[in-house]
Order: sequence, then structure tokens, then C-alpha cells
Amino acid sequence: MKALINELSNKIKTRNAQIGIIGMGYVGIPLGLEFVKSGFSVTGFDKDKKRVDDLNDGKQIMKHISSDLMTEFISEDKGKATADFTKIKNMDCLIICVPTPLDEHEQPDMTYIESATNEISRNLSKGQLIILESTTYPGTTREIIKPLLEKTGLKTGDDFFLAYSPEREDPGNKKFSVSKIPKVIGGYTDNCLQLTSELYETIVSETVKVSSMEAAESTKLMENIFRAVNIAMVNELKLILDRMGVNIWEVIDAAKTKPFGFMPFYPGPGMGGHCIPIDPFYLSWKAKEFNTEARFIELAGEINRKMTEHIAHRVGKALNDDKKSINGSKILVVGLAYKKDIDDIRESPAIKIIDLLTYKGANMDYHDQFVKTFRDLKSIDLTADNIKEYDAVLITTDHTKTNYDLIGKYASLIVDTRNVMSHVEEPKARIVMA
Ligand SMILES: NC(=O)c1ccc[n+]([C@@H]2O[C@H](COP(=O)([O-])OP(=O)(O)OC[C@H]3O[C@@H](n4cnc5c(N)ncnc54)[C@H](O)[C@@H]3O)[C@@H](O)[C@H]2O)c1
Repeated sequence: MKALINELSNKIKTRNAQIGIIGMGYVGIPLGLEFVKSGFSVTGFDKDKKRVDDLNDGKQIMKHISSDLMTEFISEDKGKATADFTKIKNMDCLIICVPTPLDEHEQPDMTYIESATNEISRNLSKGQLIILESTTYPGTTREIIKPLLEKTGLKTGDDFFLAYSPEREDPGNKKFSVSKIPKVIGGYTDNCLQLTSELYETIVSETVKVSSMEAAESTKLMENIFRAVNIAMVNELKLILDRMGVNIWEVIDAAKTKPFGFMPFYPGPGMGGHCIPIDPFYLSWKAKEFNTEARFIELAGEINRKMTEHIAHRVGKALNDDKKSINGSKILVVGLAYKKDIDDIRESPAIKIIDLLTYKGANMDYHDQFVKTFRDLKSIDLTADNIKEYDAVLITTDHTKTNYDLIGKYASLIVDTRNVMSHVEEPKARIVMA
């Protein structure tokens, strides 16, 4: 075992370790780029053949990752992608970054993790380091990954090494890229922990070692539950203060001047993205196995989910004040992505609001500079003539480069869920905060 550890450690130090990333998406691509930048050869494994071809052609796959960076990934033969999983045999370190959604019963869907692990298991070699990065409930690495890998007859910690290290990527956040975010790691053994830490130290400024894989798995969930609960709290406060005629945004701005004990969270049209609407429920599901309940998580989910209905209702009320009904009105949704400056529409509340208003008979269009097409719709150009066409403009995403001045000048009614219109001087439109 000592020889295997020394060999892998040396390969990592000299950047001769072959890095394999399973799942080249929002998490896998930036991670692969960091390892290439650090001097490693990286192979991205993906089931999606088109994704593999696009990566090998240096195509820009995500709007927030520049085409220059994508070309850098494949240049000098350091980065490549493949759908041939037998090449796993040639890897020294394998990092799993596959999706962890909820299934139709709102329960953790482990099929992606199982399928990726089975591919590794079929090609497992002695001395390899396997790391799970996908967000998941405490116990996944030990209860699902370890037994599947040990089917080979090889033993965890002796023949190969196993760890969990959550991804904390915030796509589109220019201040905190992968390399600037400390990496939390839990290993199956101390040696697993040490080797994983050595690997990540080559790409991040700090690693944080915790005592178990379960502690690392729980850390990621705690971070996302913290956000889900605080967002729900501020969403609920918005509804209460709104009835009292108090502007929540002004209150948050004032509260955040307190230099300690307060952290601002902002209301919005509902939960979106892969993390906040999904990850907390991985813990509430697992909690049931231990005969306990996660009441904060369930309540936050309920409040955040209801926000989309609240916004649709506010649009109806605002139209009513203009003596119009939802049925037959033309409504432009500005921002389809679930958050600003990215093209990710997964779980986006804007889509749920579009569906609710369409169901009530509205004619819906959208504008999003990052999302050119959606279903059978095309993003509408924001021009004076186009804006004038709509009975209401609903702002659901606060993309930095959207021309809010123009909307303020030519729309008749704006329902603003992101407080962007407060920065527009003397808008001609009637503004309704929601
Ligand atoms: N997107 C984020 O901001 C973010 C942040 C932190 C953590 N995470 C977590 O990271 C994990 C990955 O998320 P993502 O956003 O990168 O997902 P994604 O959907 O963008 O990418 C996943 C990729 O995995 C591929 N894939 C699926 N099954 C596979 C398999 N068996 N073998 C090989 N490839 C397979 C898909 O084709 C896809 O390209 C999830 O657990 C997510 O919760 C995501």
C-alpha cells in the first residue's frame, strides 16, 4: 500500500497524474480547466456524445466560460473528452461530477452516481484515487460508491483510495472562481484524505480536511440549506412588509449596515437552479431513515415554492388595476435564467411563472440575452417598439447588461421581482414591486 501511495503522491507533485473527470457539465468543465492550467493532462468522460464532440472542437458550451478558455482546454493536448469509458483504466485520479436530481417522487435520484461508479468499477485499477464531488446526502460515498467499487475484489484504502469533496462552484461569479474557493475534503482513510488534499492543493488556495466523508457531504448540504432557509425567511418577510406598505429592499439595505450578526439575503420570484430547490431535500429524505424530520427544510421549500404563485398573482392584480385581465394580455418576461449573468434555466422560477400565466390565458414572450430559444419561443429583442407591444413587463432575472432604462421608458407596466427598477431614473412606466 505504501508503494501505491508514494507513487500517486509523486505523480501528483510532478503533475504526471492523469486526471479523469466523469461528467463534463457546469462543475466538471471549470474543474477540468483548473487542472489543465495547473499542468495536468485531463480527460473528461461524458455519456453525451455531442458534449464530447463540442469539447474536443473547443466549442463554447456555457456562456459564462469564454471560448478562449475552452480552446485552452484542448490546446497542447492537455485536455480532451471521450465517451469511451475503458480509458478510465489509464487514469490516476477520477473525479465524479454527475447530476444528483430528485426523482418524480421528490426523492434522491442516485442513478447517475451509480452509473458513473459502475463505469469506474468495470475499469478500476490498483492505486487509483476516486473522488465524488456531486452534491448528495451523508453516507452516499460509503454506502453506494464503496460497495460498487469493491465488487472488483479490490479494497478501499488498501488497493484504491476514496474521498468526498463537494463542489462549491458559483457559475458566473467573477469574484470567486474554483481556485479561490477553499475545498472541503473527507477521506475514507487518512491516506485517502491526504492524497486528495495533495491533489486539490495543486488547484485551490486552501483545503479544509474534515474527519469523515459524511462530514464533508453534510457541509455542502448545510451551506445550501442555510441559503434556502434564509431566502425563504426574506421572501416571507417581503409578503408581510408589503401588506404594511414597507419596502423590503430598503429594510435589507438598512439592516446590512450593521457590521456584525447580519448577512443580507434578497427576495425573488422563487427558487431556481440545481442547488437550492433540490439539495436540501437530500437531507430531509435521509433524516427520515433516522426517524427524524427536517422541518426548517420543508417549510423553506414550501414558502419558496409558493413565490411563483405569488408573483403570478401580483401580475394579475397589477393588470387588473389597469382594467385588464391576464386572459388575453401580452406579457414579456425579462430573464429566463434562474440567476443573473448565466444561461442556466434549470428549475427557473421564470418558467413556472410563464406556465402559470399561460394557463390563465396570457400571451407570453420572454427576453434573455443568455437564452436565445426556449421551447417554441425565441428571445425577443429589447427595442422600444417591441417593449411597447406588451401590457406588462415582468422582470424575473437581474442580468447586469439588460437595458432597464429602455424598459422603464417604453413599458406601460413593470412588475419588478429584483428591485432593478429602483436604479432607473424617472421611469415612465408604472412600477409594481413584487
Ligand atoms: N451547477 C452548479 O452550480 C453546482 C454547484 C455545486 C455543486 N453542483 C453539483 O455538481 C453535480 C453536477 O452538477 P452540474 O451542474 O455540473 O451538472 P450538469 O448537468 O451541468 O453536468 C453533468 C454532466 O454529466 C454527464 N453525465 C450524466 N451521467 C453521466 C455518466 N453516468 N457518466 C458520465 N457523464 C455523465 C451529463 O451528460 C452532463 O454533461 C451535481 O451533484 C450538482 O448538485 C452543481
